[in-house]
Amino acid sequence: PVQTIDSLGPLRMVVDTLRDSGTVALVPTMGALHEGHLALVREAKRRADHVAASIFVNPRQFGEGEDLEAYPRRLKEDAALLEKEGVALLWAPTPEAMYPNGYATNISVSGVSEGLCGGDRPGHFDGVATVVCKLFSQVRPDMAFFGEKDWQQLAVIRRMARDLDLVRPHVDAIHGVPTVREKDGLAMSSRNAYLSGEEREQAAALPRAMQAAIAVMKQGGDPPKVLAGLREALLDSGFSEVDYAELRDAETLEPLSRVGTRPTRLLVAARIGPARLIDNMAIG
Ligand code: PAJ
Repeated sequence: PVQTIDSLGPLRMVVDTLRDSGTVALVPTMGALHEGHLALVREAKRRADHVAASIFVNPRQFGEGEDLEAYPRRLKEDAALLEKEGVALLWAPTPEAMYPNGYATNISVSGVSEGLCGGDRPGHFDGVATVVCKLFSQVRPDMAFFGEKDWQQLAVIRRMARDLDLVRPHVDAIHGVPTVREKDGLAMSSRNAYLSGEEREQAAALPRAMQAAIAVMKQGGDPPKVLAGLREALLDSGFSEVDYAELRDAETLEPLSRVGTRPTRLLVAARIGPARLIDNMAIG
């Protein structure tokens, strides 16, 4: 059965035992688990001998006025789901265990953290990098799994892991897992629960409009015009605001004004009802 642990001493003991009998994969989450999270766990199970999942609603990555208090917390149900997937260890620290009194250290990754969600949510990626760095030093995994759903986050973590030697060099230890979607194409997210029935239906316009935009750009459509059209389409479909709709180099996240030969990604963030939804897709 999955062992749920909430303080560092016992965590070290259990992880050491696991490491004696094979490799350990880490799957960091904020809980309220859905099929997207479970896809990470399944991929981790395929690649490592043991899977450690973490659940921690990280206050440092929520901005002023964001949904820290409203964020769904369901530790019991989550533990049952992880148990079914054969996870060995659930690391669920309290905020006090993660950030004891006097905590003063921040990890800030420049470049890839800038713009997109980093522009709209100042300090967000510092919070993500800081907690993921701490999770790495707490669990000391051989590898870790993250969703492509949060493309910029994945890029930030890859950069940080290289820069801070969090994993063995020359080993591809940070794994990205493709986005898991609902039947209508909406990317699964714990935040989809904030949507009313009507908003939930309208939200499917996001992936639909993105795919339509990609199809047009592939046929030579002028990106600035197509992206303006994408914004219009979202506003017409019930979204109240489009935070960004941009083309970026898939790896460096450098802004691109046209679809070139390098792998290119379309990234969008838009608001509907009480939720801010993000999505990203490859172009060609
Ligand atoms: P959370 O939003 O709970 O997501 C945990 C992991 O699941 C992330 O790597 C995320 O990209 C992935 N994920 C979420 N929805 C997905 C989907 N539909 N398909 C595939 N993967 C999906 O992201 C975080 O938590 C936090 O920022 C965290 C990394 C845990 C640091 O606090």
